[in-house]
Amino acid sequence: MTRFAFIAGETGAWRIASVTGVSGEPLVAAARLAVVPAAVAPATAAAWRLDGVVSNVRYATRAEMGELRAQHAPLNRPQARRAALIPIKKSDSWWALAQDERRAIFEEQSHHTALGLKYLPQIARQLYHCRDIDQPFDFLTWFEYAPEHAAAFEELVAGLRATQEWRYVEREIDLRLESDLAQV
Ligand code: HEM
Repeated sequence: MTRFAFIAGETGAWRIASVTGVSGEPLVAAARLAVVPAAVAPATAAAWRLDGVVSNVRYATRAEMGELRAQHAPLNRPQARRAALIPIKKSDSWWALAQDERRAIFEEQSHHTALGLKYLPQIARQLYHCRDIDQPFDFLTWFEYAPEHAAAFEELVAGLRATQEWRYVEREIDLRLESDLAQV
């Protein structure tokens, strides 16, 4: 289980283009973001640091996992010079639900996976879990895409925020990032 650190400060491969507080307590603005394995994260001063781990799926069915695998795009594509980091915390009422109730809200009512699949493979994604490692958020959601797919990504985010699932989101910060690397 590799633990990753998202470190906002003066250094890092990503320039922070915007930090928007969607709900709950905001995060302070910073110039750049570094994403590194926590084991090699520098102990230098940072504006903030959030950690998350790549974990197993909770809700996806066998069929959905197959679709996701077939359509997914890898991270670090040279053309994907835009990224988004969206840390999310869900409410106590979400966590008080049973697994089957959460799945029903997530997919049967909100169609999270079905909606998201329409944006693959243009959007590459990685979900990091952090509820169980003593962090302020439950999830760090990470996306990478080419500049020409930025509008589609905003459409996806707006669509998800209008769902039943999002009624259980009590803290959400939306960061947009740009890579300075020249297009290969
Ligand atoms: C790019 C298209 C997307 C696809 C295909 C997608 C798909 C998924 C899937 C399959 C899961 C469940 C994994 C599991 O079974 O545990 C998931 C979880 C999640 N996604 Fe997405 N997603 C997409 C975009 C987004 C966006 C844009 C956001 C944020 C605005 C987001 C936020 C989350 C969160 C917070 C979870 C964890 C939910 C929970 O466990 O309660 N996703 N996503």
